[in-house]
Amino acid sequence: MLKGEIRVPGDKSISHRSIMLGSIAEGKTEIKNFLVSEDTLATMECFRKMGVHIDTRKDNVVVEGVGKSGLKNPEKILYCGNSGTTMRLTSGILVGQDFPSILVGDSSLNSRPMKRIISPLRQMNGNIKGVEDEYPPLEIYPSEKLKGIHYKMPIDSAQVKSAILLASIYAHGQTCIEEKGFSRDHTERMLKCFGADICKTDKLTCIKDNAKLKGQNLFIPGDISSAAFFIVGALTLKGSDILIRDVGINESRIGILEALKEMGGDIEIQNKRIVNYEPIGDIRVRYSKLKGININGSRIITLIDEIPVLAVAAALAEGTTTIRDAEELKYKESNRLNAMAVELNKMGAKVEELEDGLVIEGVSFLKPATLNSHNDHRIAMALNIAALNADGKSHIQRGECVKISFPGFFDELYKLLI
Ligand code: S3P
Repeated sequence: MLKGEIRVPGDKSISHRSIMLGSIAEGKTEIKNFLVSEDTLATMECFRKMGVHIDTRKDNVVVEGVGKSGLKNPEKILYCGNSGTTMRLTSGILVGQDFPSILVGDSSLNSRPMKRIISPLRQMNGNIKGVEDEYPPLEIYPSEKLKGIHYKMPIDSAQVKSAILLASIYAHGQTCIEEKGFSRDHTERMLKCFGADICKTDKLTCIKDNAKLKGQNLFIPGDISSAAFFIVGALTLKGSDILIRDVGINESRIGILEALKEMGGDIEIQNKRIVNYEPIGDIRVRYSKLKGININGSRIITLIDEIPVLAVAAALAEGTTTIRDAEELKYKESNRLNAMAVELNKMGAKVEELEDGLVIEGVSFLKPATLNSHNDHRIAMALNIAALNADGKSHIQRGECVKISFPGFFDELYKLLI
């Protein structure tokens, strides 16, 4: 069972954005509870290569902002590692620069779709190319002045929305983005915090051109996507009772809490407050008997990264859980629909893979197995929680990839495990 109190490291999405906005702001940005992980270090390295001085002491980071026109020609290729957020968001900033740049990723990132950012950035006059107009490496060249656009998002994606918003800082004329769903809005909140004139009404976000950004003092909330592994662990392991302090509970991210509550999960949010425009709270979770539910439509985007661990909860719930409208999961760090179906079935679960989701029939127990993380951090952590629920020893191959988003995952897990 899991018992006790922990904190999880800073939110990955917000940590990336704090380096990016801090770099192009005027003056110093001091960041507390920054997530130190491979993905966020990739962003940091890219901005260091463009001449930004960034000082780190554990999870305290100081960025000496160079102003929006102060980035320097990196001369070398910008390596984004496994991080889609680094590549897609940084591209939004790079289309506005007067120097050329090349962005490349690891083998997983180099096979992820980029047309989704190439198209709108080109509409803004950005000079950006990919392999077959779709895959990295991305080549970006100086262009004529960027122009603001009104963009109707064909898919729900905070990375695409954010790339456009960051490019708008270098554009002439207002930019508006219309979304179908409610993707995470950390870029909008942080831009506001740094002084941009940005406003959001329901599904429409508009930002005035030429935003002037001023360095800030930031506290990064704990990552709800990291907390989700312990939340599902506590719900599924008999006798568990845990408290996770200082977790980000932004409305666009709490789909996982709502889904697990609907499944019968005993989850309580305490001590709610707002820091730097982001809501934060402490999450108390107790072991609960879970039942299957249906999850689809606009809810998917609010729990997109938590579907692997939600599948573990569903595999142990009573009845059937059906997840639909989640095709995007095929284009993440791995094909997450396939990975979870294949790996959970090795443990005796009953998971059917669909084109856009999963049908999971709950079983009363999981059996130990040799599992594969597919080199995907979220699959590795979800499988660890599944393995804790099996009676016997499982082995998870390529499990070290947790360092992409949560290097201290095993330490925190051992703190809670009794
Ligand atoms: C992220 C947005 C989401 C999410 C990813 C982080 C972000 O991706 O899955 O882990 O920081 O903006 P999409 O924009 O592809 O939905």
